Amino acid sequence: MSSVGIDQISFYTSNYYLDLQTLAKTQNIDPEKYYVGIGQEKMGMPAHDEDIVTMAASAAAPLFSDEASKSISTLLFATETGIDQSKSAGVYVHRLLGLNENCRVVELKQACYSATAAVQMACALVARQPQISVLVIASDIAKYDLDTPGEATQGCGAVAMMIRAEPRILQIDPEVGNYTEDVMDFWRPNYRKTAIVDGKYSTKIYLKSLKKAWQHFAESSQYCFSDLEYFCYHLPFSRMAQKAHRHLSKVNKSTLDAQAIDAQIEGSLLYNKLIGNSYAAALFIGFTSLLENSIEDLSGKRIGFFSYGSGCVAEFFSGKVLPGYEKHLFAAEHATMLNNRQELSYEQYIALYHAPDPREGENVSIVADTTGKFRLAGICEHKREYVAV
Ligand code: HMG
Repeated sequence: MSSVGIDQISFYTSNYYLDLQTLAKTQNIDPEKYYVGIGQEKMGMPAHDEDIVTMAASAAAPLFSDEASKSISTLLFATETGIDQSKSAGVYVHRLLGLNENCRVVELKQACYSATAAVQMACALVARQPQISVLVIASDIAKYDLDTPGEATQGCGAVAMMIRAEPRILQIDPEVGNYTEDVMDFWRPNYRKTAIVDGKYSTKIYLKSLKKAWQHFAESSQYCFSDLEYFCYHLPFSRMAQKAHRHLSKVNKSTLDAQAIDAQIEGSLLYNKLIGNSYAAALFIGFTSLLENSIEDLSGKRIGFFSYGSGCVAEFFSGKVLPGYEKHLFAAEHATMLNNRQELSYEQYIALYHAPDPREGENVSIVADTTGKFRLAGICEHKREYVAV
């Protein structure tokens, strides 16, 4: 069987961010709690006319530079920030990107885990028909109640990945380790815009799931801890990944020193520190960060991935970075996007946080705000109207 995996990867985050120093100042607490304690510096805030659809389309647009690339067979859209109980957000993206009418589109949900499920399903489809391409998009807005411990871990982002046979970036290994348990650590009932979270408990369940998924992976695959040279974790905040990786290295009685252990994840944390949690997109934005910021050539290196979705479903899987991968990245575009963002004052952040969100079916027209390629122009007769900018 030919190898299957990630052929291209691109991400998007909003133009706006709140520096966590600003949040700490208004809360009258030491900014180091955020900068060091949770390891986050900034959190992305979507513009008034942005949502998971516009972010997803902006993330995926660079993968469709020519007509031939539009002939994908399937679009899998992973999110937990759903905009409709029935229609897949991916169908709007399908039109915005001009994808072909024979493309199948569906939305997947299991908290932050769903993008990994989408990637595995895409790999299975491609393994069956190696000539096809499957687009996986994860897009989310992490929103918590104001003045709660979760507030500083908000963020937003979307990642788009083309899954193909003979990929140019990452060959994904077929063996995985899974763990599922019915727990209430983080959830969002249909009537709420913000998640309900038992923060400390969620961090414990994350670590338990890591150990369980790892054990299953170790039993199912030919790889052990020392075969994996770098690691990417689901990133609710970067300190979580640091704790998780130290925990996994102890579970495996690694002989590496603390510095070497931290270095195995460092590159994967950089974008997350500037964006915040992007739920389903976070793991793969972390992978992009590793690819685009590693000083070492990653060709031939095997990477371990830990995907965690509250509720909870977890998966450990691995993949090998392919020679020449760096030629297929969008590193310069990502750097420009992150460098050109606009900082918000606390008052501007609060205005965006409370952005009008029609619930009773009233018609609204939304002023142009985003610097992204697509925007939500309005909602009329319950229909969301998306346009290219
Ligand atoms: P908290 O309880 O306010 O924080 O929020 P804390 O008091 O535990 O402090 C955090 C760390 O900062 C501690 O270090 C402090 O010592 C340190 P630790 O004990 O952890 O090593 N600290 C300082 N450090 C330096 N200088 C200072 C200072 N002050 C304190 N001055 C909590 C933490 C995780 C509860 C909160 O952020 C939260 O509720 N977050 C949301 C939930 C979350 O992200 N959970 C993570 C696991 S679940 C998950 O990943 C899934 C998720 O993405 C959703 C999905 O799957 O869909 C969330």
